[in-house]
Amino acid sequence: MELLPLWLCLGFHFLTMKWKNGSGMVTGASQGGCKLVGGVADCRGQNLASVPSSLPPHSQTLILDANPLKTLWNHSLQPYPLLESLSLHSCHLGLIGLDAFREQGHLRSLALADNCLSENYKETAAALHTLPDLRRLDLSGNSLTEDMAALMLQNLSSLEAVSLARNTLMRLDDCVFEGLEHLRELDLQRNYIFEIEGGAFDGLTELRRLNLAYNNLPCIVDFGLTQLQFLNISYNVLEWFLAAKEEAAFELEMLDLSHNQLLFFPLLPQCSKLHTLLLQDNNMGFYRDLYNTSSPQEMVAQFLLVDGNVTNITTVSLWEEFASSDLAALHFLDMSQNQFQYLPDGFLKKMPSLSHLNLNQNCLMMLHIREHEPPAALTELDLSHNQLSELHVAPGLTSCLRSLRLFNLSSNQLQGVPTDLFANASNITTIDMSHNQILLCPQPAPIDRAGPPSCVDFRNMASLRSLSLEGCGLGALQNCPFQGTSLTHLDLSGNWGILNGSIAPLQDIAPTLQVLSLRNVGLNSGFAELDFSGFGNLRDLDLSGNSLTSFPRFRSSLPLQTLDLRRNSLTALPQRAVSEQLLRSLQTIYLSQNPYDCCGVEGWGALQHLKTVADLAMVTCNLSSKVIRVLELQGGMPQDCKWERVDMGLLYLVLILPSCLTLLVACTVIFLTFKKPLLQVIKSRCHWSSIY
Ligand SMILES: *[C@@H]1O[C@H](CO)[C@@H](O)[C@H](O)[C@H]1NC(C)=O
Ligand SMILES: *[C@@H]1O[C@H](CO)[C@@H](O)[C@H](O)[C@H]1NC(C)=O
Ligand SMILES: *[C@@H]1O[C@H](CO)[C@@H](O)[C@H](O)[C@H]1NC(C)=O
Ligand SMILES: *[C@@H]1O[C@H](CO)[C@@H](O)[C@H](O)[C@H]1NC(C)=O
Ligand SMILES: *[C@@H]1O[C@H](CO)[C@@H](O)[C@H](O)[C@H]1NC(C)=O
Ligand SMILES: *[C@@H]1O[C@H](CO)[C@@H](O)[C@H](O)[C@H]1NC(C)=O
Ligand SMILES: *[C@@H]1O[C@H](CO)[C@@H](O)[C@H](O)[C@H]1NC(C)=O
Ligand SMILES: *[C@@H]1O[C@H](CO)[C@@H](O)[C@H](O)[C@H]1NC(C)=O
Ligand SMILES: *[C@@H]1O[C@H](CO)[C@@H](O)[C@H](O)[C@H]1NC(C)=O
Ligand SMILES: *[C@@H]1O[C@H](CO)[C@@H](O)[C@H](O)[C@H]1NC(C)=O
Ligand SMILES: *[C@@H]1O[C@H](CO)[C@@H](O)[C@H](O)[C@H]1NC(C)=O
Repeated sequence: MELLPLWLCLGFHFLTMKWKNGSGMVTGASQGGCKLVGGVADCRGQNLASVPSSLPPHSQTLILDANPLKTLWNHSLQPYPLLESLSLHSCHLGLIGLDAFREQGHLRSLALADNCLSENYKETAAALHTLPDLRRLDLSGNSLTEDMAALMLQNLSSLEAVSLARNTLMRLDDCVFEGLEHLRELDLQRNYIFEIEGGAFDGLTELRRLNLAYNNLPCIVDFGLTQLQFLNISYNVLEWFLAAKEEAAFELEMLDLSHNQLLFFPLLPQCSKLHTLLLQDNNMGFYRDLYNTSSPQEMVAQFLLVDGNVTNITTVSLWEEFASSDLAALHFLDMSQNQFQYLPDGFLKKMPSLSHLNLNQNCLMMLHIREHEPPAALTELDLSHNQLSELHVAPGLTSCLRSLRLFNLSSNQLQGVPTDLFANASNITTIDMSHNQILLCPQPAPIDRAGPPSCVDFRNMASLRSLSLEGCGLGALQNCPFQGTSLTHLDLSGNWGILNGSIAPLQDIAPTLQVLSLRNVGLNSGFAELDFSGFGNLRDLDLSGNSLTSFPRFRSSLPLQTLDLRRNSLTALPQRAVSEQLLRSLQTIYLSQNPYDCCGVEGWGALQHLKTVADLAMVTCNLSSKVIRVLELQGGMPQDCKWERVDMGLLYLVLILPSCLTLLVACTVIFLTFKKPLLQVIKSRCHWSSIY
């Protein structure tokens, strides 16, 4: 309640500040609500119905975004003959006057996104044709069809970048982009393009970047834009990508074919500079090894290329797969979320420069590591979410995985890895083996290639910093499994019973560990008090989902920042001393889902005021049979506790005492009232009795 006036006060203060600010702007470096900095006049969202006429005449950039102009009238830009850049985003523009841009000879950049230019596109187009030196034109979000777009762009041969994103283009014929011989960048994403006629881009000899994402293209065959560097066709319905069988060198560097329906690895140019190839989320596989034909050459696909009245037939051997593609410059290859069951021999050998390979979410069952496969330059290899049960390392390899830094094997069916897999991986920092049913080798194993690997040994991997063994079904850790490493991040979550009675197996890495996750490992009250005082660098500790009944112990100088104690069996908050010591560095603590006793929430105040409890709203406590939120206890301990604390004997005494007193008083009163007669009676009785 006391807070309300303060809030009101603050609110008022805030309002006045805002108002002051607004008026200050008008008098300061601004005019009619427009901010003026250098040659830039920024009139965004000023509710202007027309172009202001009193801005400095030498303005070079005029931003009128989000004003309800509706029409850009003839001559309304006349006061600003030096404009180089004009932005009219979201101005409800339906009409641009034929003479609106006359005398704007300096205009280089014109942004007209999110208007209604389809309404009077002819006059608008005519207005654009008065801009012979325009370099950048943004027409996105204007409901333009291909005919309207073609008319607007006609003869604007100076254009270097055009955006037609978010329009209603459906079919690109060979005259849409006619004459745009300087165009370098074309954005056509988020249209409804389902067909591109051969030759549609032929005149665009300078085109370098083309974005066709989010359209309805079913295939790209005979791709022949040799000068293109960047091509994005993600989020279409492509089933085929087929480059023209030209000897010519392609400049292509980045190709994004992700989120399509490709069935086959794309047939890429025979000579290109491709360094990034994105193929995730398709239906691709390699098939040659899965078929059992005696003459695999029979498997061909024929494409009919129809151009006017000429029909050409292109025949593609499906087993050619990647063979004719030039992948020598490839650095980054993402093939995740596909149907790959195997990688054919020689596939990775074609990519000697490959540094990132992502194969997660496929159906790989086995991986052979041979000389140059994967290539020596590889730094990140993600094989997570496959069905790998075997990793084979060819005997006698000395340079395999030499540069590898990150190896993700999460969620496979591995039971172990060959002992020499990591022998030369001297740069490896991160290994994720979570969700594999592995065993840790009990002894440091000598390098021995006989027999299938049945365990994993991480000892003496000096470069290793981060290791995840979550959900690996590991038994109790034996002596020193991480000896010789300098792990900073370790995740042992979900291995029930891995710490059988003590955290001693982690002593080797205690000085270096910064992040330790021990979620759901069955720590319980058997541990008198978990003692983390040897972990001098621990920043982040997750102990959730165990059965802890008491707070772990930490060294006072521990730089702990995050502590998660959710889903344990804590009944009380830490003692004041502990909490104060902890709170010195702690920034975030999670405490919810513990059966705290409402009557024992001592030390709560200290935690609550420091805003370190991230899940404060969800912390509940247990009051006899009710569960209530600790936040609701803000007034201190609930009344019921005070009662509960009092000894039941005392309670009964207190309850009985008033009745007793009443009875006593009543007796006294009666006694005094009938004192005389009573005495007499007694006397008489006595007297009488004395007769006996
Ligand atoms: C602009 O001027 C031309 C004549 O030069 C006229 O035909 C046209 O209607 C005018 N447009 C607007 C929007 O006033
Ligand atoms: C484009 O240029 C051609 C030839 O220079 C000319 O015939 C045509 O009228 C021009 N189109 C427009 C819309 O200006
Ligand atoms: C391709 O375009 C989509 C949609 O705009 C975008 O999300 C994606 O990041 C682009 N790809 C690249 C490699 O830039
Ligand atoms: C493939 O052919 C070989 C013999 O040529 C045969 O042993 C094998 O079972 C066949 N595999 C399948 C999947 O048909
Ligand atoms: C068809 O093939 C001929 C000769 O190979 C070639 O000149 C022509 O450009 C091709 N047409 C198409 C549409 O590919
Ligand atoms: C194909 O069309 C061209 C004109 O577009 C015509 O000259 C030629 O005769 C046509 N060829 C056939 C075989 O119809
Ligand atoms: C290992 O990493 C370092 C630093 O990142 C790098 O200089 C070195 O070349 C790498 N070694 C190999 C074999 O790639
Ligand atoms: C490994 O892959 C899994 C699933 O794709 C992902 O959740 C995890 O973050 C990855 N691990 C590392 C260290 O990148
Ligand atoms: C690879 O590892 C083996 C065995 O550990 C070692 O003899 C060899 O020198 C290593 N080679 C390189 C290039 O590090
Ligand atoms: C767990 O610890 C107890 C004694 O602390 C020991 O008897 C038992 O063998 C240990 N279990 C394992 C699997 O190491
Ligand atoms: C509340 O405490 C009682 C006894 O202390 C216990 O039986 C009950 O399970 C607790 N309720 C919850 C929700 O923890």
